[in-house]
Amino acid sequence: MTTKKTQNHARGAAASTSQRIHTSSRQLMVTRLCALLSCLFALATLAQPTYALANCPNSCQCDDDTLVVRCGEGTLDVLPITLNPFIQRLVIQNNKIKTIDSSLQFYAELLFLDLSYNDLVTLPMRTFQFQRKLQELHLNHNKIGQISNTTFVGLAALTVLNLRGNLLAELEQGTFAKMSKLAELNLGQNRINRIDPHAFDGLMNLRTLYLDDNTLTTVPAPSIFQAMPNLAELYLGTNSFTSIEANAFVDLRGLTRLDLRGAGLHNVSAEALKGLEGLRFLDLADNRLQVVPTNALSHLERLEELLLGQNDFEVIGSGAFTGLKQLRKLEITGAQHLRSVQNGAFSANTNLEHINLSANKILQEVQENALSGLPHLRHVILKENDLHTLSEGLIPWSDLQTLDLSDNPIVCDCQVLWLRNLLVSKNSTTDRLIGVMCAYPEPMRKEPLSQLSPAMLGCSHSDSKQQAMIIVVVVVTTATITGLSLLVYGCRRRIRETLKGGWGNSALGRKEREYQKTCSDEEYMTRQQHPCSLSIQPTMPYTNNGGYNMHQTQPYMGSRPIPVTEL
Ligand SMILES: *[C@@H]1O[C@H](CO)[C@@H](O)[C@H](O)[C@H]1NC(C)=O
Ligand SMILES: *[C@@H]1O[C@H](CO)[C@@H](O)[C@H](O)[C@H]1NC(C)=O
Ligand SMILES: *[C@@H]1O[C@H](CO)[C@@H](O)[C@H](O)[C@H]1NC(C)=O
Ligand SMILES: *[C@@H]1O[C@H](CO)[C@@H](O)[C@H](O)[C@H]1NC(C)=O
Repeated sequence: MTTKKTQNHARGAAASTSQRIHTSSRQLMVTRLCALLSCLFALATLAQPTYALANCPNSCQCDDDTLVVRCGEGTLDVLPITLNPFIQRLVIQNNKIKTIDSSLQFYAELLFLDLSYNDLVTLPMRTFQFQRKLQELHLNHNKIGQISNTTFVGLAALTVLNLRGNLLAELEQGTFAKMSKLAELNLGQNRINRIDPHAFDGLMNLRTLYLDDNTLTTVPAPSIFQAMPNLAELYLGTNSFTSIEANAFVDLRGLTRLDLRGAGLHNVSAEALKGLEGLRFLDLADNRLQVVPTNALSHLERLEELLLGQNDFEVIGSGAFTGLKQLRKLEITGAQHLRSVQNGAFSANTNLEHINLSANKILQEVQENALSGLPHLRHVILKENDLHTLSEGLIPWSDLQTLDLSDNPIVCDCQVLWLRNLLVSKNSTTDRLIGVMCAYPEPMRKEPLSQLSPAMLGCSHSDSKQQAMIIVVVVVTTATITGLSLLVYGCRRRIRETLKGGWGNSALGRKEREYQKTCSDEEYMTRQQHPCSLSIQPTMPYTNNGGYNMHQTQPYMGSRPIPVTEL
């Protein structure tokens, strides 16, 4: 611990305060505070033999070098007033502070104040009037029920205001006026249902606005957004909108991110997203959309990422995302009614790199060409669907870096042999290929597909070309064996003689060849009447150069006798 404990700053605080305060009532207050402080100081000195801890509450760390005070979880119920008056950062989270009162005036140098996770209920008028340097104010997760256009007076340097997780119900006119530096305003997780048309006036430089998780029933009127010309990110999810009017966001030309997740939307009208030419990210997941809002989306020429899962549509039809030329990532997961992804569904989206279609419980069909013609596609997540099989033509499988087909009821038969081969061949590479488990047929349940042989998939003879080849081979072999048997039968006397003469001390292989040669030579040169000739092959082609014409003697290929020229 390098933390130095604060010493005797209470007096300094009181002194600097009294310089600033001129009215008699304030002086009275200061006198009272001074009395309180010396009392506290005396108490602390009594309790602690080391005077150093006097001005830093037990649960806190007070660093006079960095001017940071940080109080751990505890039971502080008022803001300490005896801290170093020059502190710049004050963090008191997870305590029981109920009011701020006038104690903040001692800390005019604050740049950062975090009072999140306390029990603040009200913020009196002009609470922060001396915090002219404050840049970040975190009041999230308290019980603040009301703010007004007098609450934040004085916070001219503020860039971040976090009021998430409170009990605010309405935003009145001019609440954030004069906060021209504010860049991020978090009003999420409140009970806001009414926003005055001029509530956000003055937020010239606001870039991020959270209004998610409130009880809004309509998207704030376009005139409200006009006050925030630099807005880049807007979070409106978890409200109850049912629909979005045409041109709702028409003035937000700089918007890059729009979050409408869980916004209760049944319908997004064709002109609803007009004007959002710069939008890169859109979350429309977890709504009640009956159809993919193709027309509304088609305005979003620069959209790169779209989340559309947990909606009620049954089909993703051809051209569903027409106009989204820059789309790189698409996620449609948990769509409980989605049955089918049809050919051409993504045909307009030639920049797609990442498709996540997972946890769509009844998705049985991804049509053969649904994912074709996407040269940049690298990541395909199809896990937890109801797919029984997949066709080889579906995706340029060999270009994929991620393929997840897990938790589908895959039928491991010959139709997925190509997939098994792909899994095996890609295993050694660095790509992420999630194993495929069989669901059917019963004996192969829970077997990894990659571990099954083609024969186990019931398809060692499946290929029709292969089948034809096999038939040819079988016929040829049968004919050859028959021919050879007849030949052996015809030459049986010669064989017996040969066996008698000298097998005992010479190499078997050579003798065998000699026998072959003998028999063949004789056979080729003699006529039909000879006992060693083949009755089923009455004319043996014998060419002038002493060899066979290979093409005319196909039945003999690969079997004895061996042509003379090869010997
Ligand atoms: C503050 O709000 C009150 C009531 O809502 C209104 O009458 C007053 O004009 C507002 N003041 C400013 C500065 O906006
Ligand atoms: C969607 O909204 C438009 C206009 O806002 C309306 O004409 C249309 O009937 C709505 N469709 C559904 C299915 O509610
Ligand atoms: C796919 O989507 C699900 C649901 O949103 C998510 O949990 C998962 O991480 C995503 N997978 C990938 C690889 O992005
Ligand atoms: C990949 O290879 C490893 C051993 O190298 C093996 O344990 C694993 O099961 C293989 N995975 C697949 C999907 O074949």
